[in-house]
Amino acid sequence: MMLGLKVAVTSLCALLVGWCVMVLVEPNCLDAEFRHGAVAADTDTCSKIGRDMLQSGGSAVDGAIAALLCTSLLNVQSLSLGGGTVITVMDSSGDVKVINARETTPLNFKPNLLDECPKSFRRMAGTKWIAVPGEIRGYEEAHRRYGKLPWASLFQPTIQLAREGVAIRPIMARYLAMENYINSSEDKALWKFFSDEKGNQLQAGDIVKYEKLADTLEEIAAGGADALYKGRVGEDLIRDIQEEGGTITMEDLHSYQVEVTDPWTISLGDYKMYLPPPPTGGVLLGLVLNILKGYNMTPSALDADQKVLTYHRLAEALKFSTAAKHHVRDMKFTTADLKKLSEDAFADHLRSLISSDHTNKRKFYNISSQLDTVGTTHVSVLAEDGSAASITSTINHIFGSRVYSQRTGILLNNQLADFCHRVREINHADRRDSRMIPVVYPGERPPSLTSPAILKSDWETLVIGASGGSFITGGFASALMNYLWFGKSLPDAIAAPILFVDGRTVIKGEPGFDEDVLQALVAMGHQREEAVRFFNVVNAVSKKNGCICAVSDARKMGQPAGY
Ligand SMILES: *[C@@H]1O[C@H](CO)[C@@H](O)[C@H](O)[C@H]1NC(C)=O
Ligand SMILES: *[C@@H]1O[C@H](CO)[C@@H](O)[C@H](O)[C@H]1NC(C)=O
Repeated sequence: MMLGLKVAVTSLCALLVGWCVMVLVEPNCLDAEFRHGAVAADTDTCSKIGRDMLQSGGSAVDGAIAALLCTSLLNVQSLSLGGGTVITVMDSSGDVKVINARETTPLNFKPNLLDECPKSFRRMAGTKWIAVPGEIRGYEEAHRRYGKLPWASLFQPTIQLAREGVAIRPIMARYLAMENYINSSEDKALWKFFSDEKGNQLQAGDIVKYEKLADTLEEIAAGGADALYKGRVGEDLIRDIQEEGGTITMEDLHSYQVEVTDPWTISLGDYKMYLPPPPTGGVLLGLVLNILKGYNMTPSALDADQKVLTYHRLAEALKFSTAAKHHVRDMKFTTADLKKLSEDAFADHLRSLISSDHTNKRKFYNISSQLDTVGTTHVSVLAEDGSAASITSTINHIFGSRVYSQRTGILLNNQLADFCHRVREINHADRRDSRMIPVVYPGERPPSLTSPAILKSDWETLVIGASGGSFITGGFASALMNYLWFGKSLPDAIAAPILFVDGRTVIKGEPGFDEDVLQALVAMGHQREEAVRFFNVVNAVSKKNGCICAVSDARKMGQPAGY
């Protein structure tokens, strides 16, 4: 009934808007909507900094970079200049490109590194997991191609915040308070940075000044990415890493290169969806959506008599995507035909294996990795000139490697830990077959689940992406299903509690998820557990009929900004 009403109201609005466009030329937008541009970042402060860039004539990329630099102060646990980023960007003519600035494997790394991979998710800290950072090289390439404002101006608001000090947000305080994220005896420098004079960890509301980071940002603002990759900042960063026993060298920074490619696309009804190619998770998200689109779902898929089947199909599609995870790798280091995973024929085949009345044992899906991770941040931006930027940045786990460079104020990633997905294969394979021994190559980018996306139809541009490690694929797919197929508004589509399927194929309902559906799924054979915490976060901006709707996920207490 509610849903029917909403659909009716929506189509009425659509009619009215169409009429107003003809009569007034000005679109008749809702109060919460914007007309020119908008930024959906993780925090109110950073969305506004991005919005200010748009308002002073910046492109979507300008707004996104400024918002991300700000986020590196407000959600330190999620991203840093010592991390990596994947940028899907559309210029004002509608041309889409992907800039992959994910971290790479250094020339020298710990021998038999993958022998240290844990069997289940746990802390993976220390210099051995650090990959060569790509974040700033990624911003540089994006700005060189798409920037309109001066490079240094993107840094100014964040430098000012860093010097004045910012209050610790409750989300970050939650992680500071837990010893398994920052350990006082193992992560000394990071622990000290976030402690008061008495040695107690800072709490929500306490003010932190990021003086060293401000110096670093000033040098990068003035000297470009080279300040980090070839200059003083890089030398100090390498010295700090090496003093902690790390193997990354100046040569690694010198030789780091971003990769600019065409996006991969899938078609979803009237929409074309642009996704970043492997080693990102775009191909896995595409697979899930390609499987599900074959069921031609409409709002009635959530009716009482169909709802269980709908979520059963979602759970099955997610299990297949977990199995496909171990195929995802840097395409420069494999001869496998990964493109196949994104094609309709492959999804059609997997859909034909989905039964409508029962699930299967793990073995059936050929799942070899069961490692779950959390972390990352996403920003979605649409600018007045029609350009769009969808960027997911990460240092991998919460607070990355927990290695904090005191000379530069940069926190380092633990991205090499993502190669551990590869290790599980050998547990199931013939150990005598040397082809099955997992290998990591210098220069290789580790696999990822990040999938910053842009969807385009004749009447809408939707910039959308998710963060939250293993929660990305399920959280993202749920938001899109709700929005594109089930008739929910963008805010409702993102707010709806999700069904999560973990690496062991166990289903978990986010608090508020329909308990009856969970019980019915268990009756179909799904294994169910309670999850302590959900990390899925979706940030999106849509422009339709001249009106812009922006949503920052309330799960991370985000707020969008626009004008
Ligand atoms: C912190 O590190 C110490 C020393 O390695 C270890 O004994 C302790 O268990 C760790 N604490 C937590 C909560 O992981
Ligand atoms: C699992 O692997 C086996 C052996 O390689 C293969 O025959 C089967 O089709 C795979 N199943 C799925 C669901 O991909």
